Amino acid sequence: MIRGPRARLAVLLSGRGSNFEAIADAIDAGSIPHAEIVAVISDTPAAAGLEAARRRGLPAFLIDRSRHSSRQAHEREIVRVLDEAATDLVCLAGYMRILSPEFVARDRGRILNIHPSLLPRFPGLHPQKQALDAGESESGCTVHFVDEGTDTGPPVLAARVPILPADTVESLSARILEAEHRLYPAAIARVLEGLREGSGDAHSDVHRNRGK
Ligand code: GAR
Repeated sequence: MIRGPRARLAVLLSGRGSNFEAIADAIDAGSIPHAEIVAVISDTPAAAGLEAARRRGLPAFLIDRSRHSSRQAHEREIVRVLDEAATDLVCLAGYMRILSPEFVARDRGRILNIHPSLLPRFPGLHPQKQALDAGESESGCTVHFVDEGTDTGPPVLAARVPILPADTVESLSARILEAEHRLYPAAIARVLEGLREGSGDAHSDVHRNRGK
């Protein structure tokens, strides 16, 4: 279920924020209909994405992991901001921390992540390098619901990208990133559609829709 006329999105990030910008651009362009970003949260002071959020006039929150004594205390602060902002969907966009099982349980079916590989291939760190080292001829990116594992939750959408013989980690990462910028907004639009039509459980709605 989505409570209001516009779905309220939070974006969690740790760095550059180009996926956050792609999501914000897609909302501005109307390709994620009836949605708004109500909180951009970074765990890292130096994250360029935080500055980009401020430039766009969006509510930006630094919740610095190094200023909290434990993951639990850090997440408690994040949850406080999410609750105050009354979010419908949490989008991890280059957020480089593992969420606790308690955090996931609180919002199951309402937390998305984007990962730069064709999951279940190459979860975890440095997936572009993992794909090159494995001698793959293609890789890509996946948007998935977050569960308790690392990059293991049910997929929403994926996009394939070729690996060229001369590719380096940098060139492959750049090609995948371009695909990410198209994929994430499309996946969010699809999940929101499920949340609007369905029972309030976006996860099972997406799976039901896949059979159509
Ligand atoms: C993106 O490639 C994203 O898929 C990846 O970090 C980059 C963030 O870029 N995320 C992960 O590897 C998470 N496991 P951005 O800050 O420019 O959006």
